[in-house]
Amino acid sequence: MLDLQRQYQPLRQELLEALGNVLDTRQFILGDAVAAFEQAAAAQLGVAHAVGCSSGTDALWLALASAGIGPGRAVVTTPFSFFSSVSAILRAGATARLADIDPATFCLSPTAVEQLLDGPGGKTVGAVLPVHLYGQTADFTAFTRIGKERGVKLIEDAAQAWGAEWEGTKAGGLGDAAAFSFYPTKNLSAAGDAGMVTTNSDEIAERARMLRQHGMRRRYHHDELGWNTRMDGFQGAVLTVKLKYIAGWNEARRTVAARYQKLLSAAGVAEAGPYPVHGIVLPREAAGSRHVWHQYVIRTARRDELRAFLAERKIGSEIYYPVPLHQQAALKGLGYAEGSFPEAERAAREVLALPIYPELREDEQQTVVAAIADFLS
Ligand SMILES: Cc1ncc(COP(=O)(O)O)c(C=O)c1O
Repeated sequence: MLDLQRQYQPLRQELLEALGNVLDTRQFILGDAVAAFEQAAAAQLGVAHAVGCSSGTDALWLALASAGIGPGRAVVTTPFSFFSSVSAILRAGATARLADIDPATFCLSPTAVEQLLDGPGGKTVGAVLPVHLYGQTADFTAFTRIGKERGVKLIEDAAQAWGAEWEGTKAGGLGDAAAFSFYPTKNLSAAGDAGMVTTNSDEIAERARMLRQHGMRRRYHHDELGWNTRMDGFQGAVLTVKLKYIAGWNEARRTVAARYQKLLSAAGVAEAGPYPVHGIVLPREAAGSRHVWHQYVIRTARRDELRAFLAERKIGSEIYYPVPLHQQAALKGLGYAEGSFPEAERAAREVLALPIYPELREDEQQTVVAAIADFLS
């Protein structure tokens, strides 16, 4: 599914030197390495501020809290995402409300969000939190309009979308604030847990810097109840090295995705969608979007059988995500019954992620495609 060794090996020396510099300076928490990464990251994304923190989960909490979202406010997000997209809202003390996804992109549907905003309790919504799922941004033409018309904040969950764009603007600069994850499997990855908040707002950035250090502006003077969610110097050093290569890696992912598209179409197994019938529905890049293919996710009605067939041939695949968030035991309290979000529930039954990473070779992709074609014949 993923071979991190292929990325690590050519960078080994450069990474060891960067880690050695942190040891030499002993700036293990925040410090120069993190500051350098924040500056370079902000420049690359074209945003005014980047604030490093300890994970993508914390970055979501930090973005919400810094944007003033807390008790008494509701935040709308998608049921089809990683757990943090909802747990961070609850952690910020806000109420989580869910709206269904667009079946073509798997991202939060702006139409469903507007229906929720028009319905009961819509006035308590202080923010919308679209997730840029699988490396493709949500429809930010629609969300920007919704944000302006309704006076709600837009917080991007950009954990899977470093380098993705909507109409030429990079993820991280589309909303009021954004959260990134540098979990080791992400397109831009640390050597452990790390995350970041980006924003063009001086005020949100200043609050994020304060809240990530126990609400301190001055040492041992706590203005607000913050938390400890600082980035380690080692992670700043590793990420600064990798930042130089990420554009090329994302380009390579786009090549791999285009090759899947070509090979699967040539094998005669592709269907138009958005729902599969006998074959598979291929993922698509929406108009206006620049996809960075964190995952390459197909849809098929016989998903579990196909996954078992691939596993027999030693081909990795993964399901992101098998259980929608409203059906998670920990989130029963949100009060949504089965059937509340038919698109998300259907996607959870049909999606299958195939191997994709920058170094994946064409012959390996041919093996994957041949196995899928065998299964479907
Ligand atoms: C969409 C999404 N949101 C949030 C997170 C949380 O990031 P982290 O694992 O760094 O806490 C992840 C990654 O795991 C993610 O994929």
